[in-house]
Amino acid sequence: MKLIVANWKAYIATAKEAERLVKKITQIKIKKGIAVVVCPPFVFLDAVKKKMGRAIRLGAQDVFWKESGPYTGAITADMLRGLGVQTVIIGHSERRQHFFESDAIVRKKVDMALAGGFDVIVCVGEQEREDKKAIPESVGEQVRAALAGISKGALARITIAYEPIWAIGTGVSDTPNDALSAAIYIKKVAGEMFGSAQAAMLKVLYGGSVDARNIRDFVFQEGIDGVLVGRASTDKEEFSKMLASL
Ligand code: PGA
Repeated sequence: MKLIVANWKAYIATAKEAERLVKKITQIKIKKGIAVVVCPPFVFLDAVKKKMGRAIRLGAQDVFWKESGPYTGAITADMLRGLGVQTVIIGHSERRQHFFESDAIVRKKVDMALAGGFDVIVCVGEQEREDKKAIPESVGEQVRAALAGISKGALARITIAYEPIWAIGTGVSDTPNDALSAAIYIKKVAGEMFGSAQAAMLKVLYGGSVDARNIRDFVFQEGIDGVLVGRASTDKEEFSKMLASL
């Protein structure tokens, strides 16, 4: 199963816009073997859920790491579950950068999301790639920090999204070959932690400037389990074209 995750980030400002976008997606026939997860801003989860039909899954862009209590502004796992959310994204580079999320916070959120019964997408990626040939060690460090101490069985519910920061929102994507090298490296790191049989269950996505021109190159690359799409997923025509092309 290949996974296409639409991360709307903060591109959408009104429920109307969110509804129009999801309506358009529901009109596309999603091919067998493809799963689509739509991750709207929190405040539009309900509106999207009501319009999205059965073919799409609902995802959230983040989750708070405490259960409940005096945490102003926090969105908890229980709140998300109540809205029908099945998947949560954790540790996106924009959360790490603009909301100061450390590896330790990411790790706590992974625990909370797993305990909440969600499928979990953990984002990792390097700032710059200095040596064009090698996947930086920082990617391995983020993977180790996010997965340290989780139960082996939980690995089947975790997806790592490899998103080199230099490729996010820049229009310059990674090459499918380098993204594959990163996926292999990430699975190797997980293999060292959990054994190769368990690590084989871990899915790895690519994210960073995926659009209608390049989506097939990543999605149909053996060893890459799908893509996480930001900006292009908020353009009705573009995203429809992307899904239709698979
Ligand atoms: P982008 O974002 O598709 O706009 O580059 C990808 C991401 O951050 O998930």
